[in-house]
Amino acid sequence: MIIAVDGPAASGKGTIARALARHYGLPHLDTGLLYRAVAANVARLDLDGSIEADAIAACDFDDALLDDPILRSDAIGSLASVISAHPLVRASLLQRQRRFANQPGGAVLDGRDIGTVIAPEADAKLFIRATPNIRAKRRHAELRAAGSTISIDRVLADIRARDLRDSTRSTAPLVPAKDSALLDTSFLSIEASVQRAIAIVEARR
Ligand code: C5P
Repeated sequence: MIIAVDGPAASGKGTIARALARHYGLPHLDTGLLYRAVAANVARLDLDGSIEADAIAACDFDDALLDDPILRSDAIGSLASVISAHPLVRASLLQRQRRFANQPGGAVLDGRDIGTVIAPEADAKLFIRATPNIRAKRRHAELRAAGSTISIDRVLADIRARDLRDSTRSTAPLVPAKDSALLDTSFLSIEASVQRAIAIVEARR
């Protein structure tokens, strides 16, 4: 069984995808980490992420980078959204994601284009949403807990800029697949969101 979980930053998609993977005993891939690793490499090599050739030069990263806490920072998240708009960057990460999705026994993947591009044949597709204000509040609390002093206004502005870039790019924009189930987590607890997600998967598999 392949489960595709897509949605914008801080919508709850990662938490839901991890919970689904646990519930069904499936491996999970957070595909945002791959884009974040390329972004971290761009920063490390002092390249310009808005230039496609620079971003491509950073695509060949060491897998150990995927565990680096730097990947979770807001700055790397924003840079990831810049480099992920380049079609050749997306192409270079495509096979790895498809292989993960198609491993025997199935998988859960979360990202922006899992249901539309990476695994259009997925058995269950969820598109997770929440209002920008609520997502900013969640992300702000996470960043604060990690020691950041960033303001909530700044987090909200970053989220809005990222939503705009991710949903208006020409390659694999952030849009719900036609056959995805929409799940708005704005006013749901994590537990309630996960229960709804499981109910959606159960109804579709
Ligand atoms: O999900 P996360 O916030 O970690 O993703 C960081 C950035 O990587 C996103 O803003 C998006 O631009 C990009 N991304 C993408 N396609 C994916 C996953 C992430 O374009 N499947």
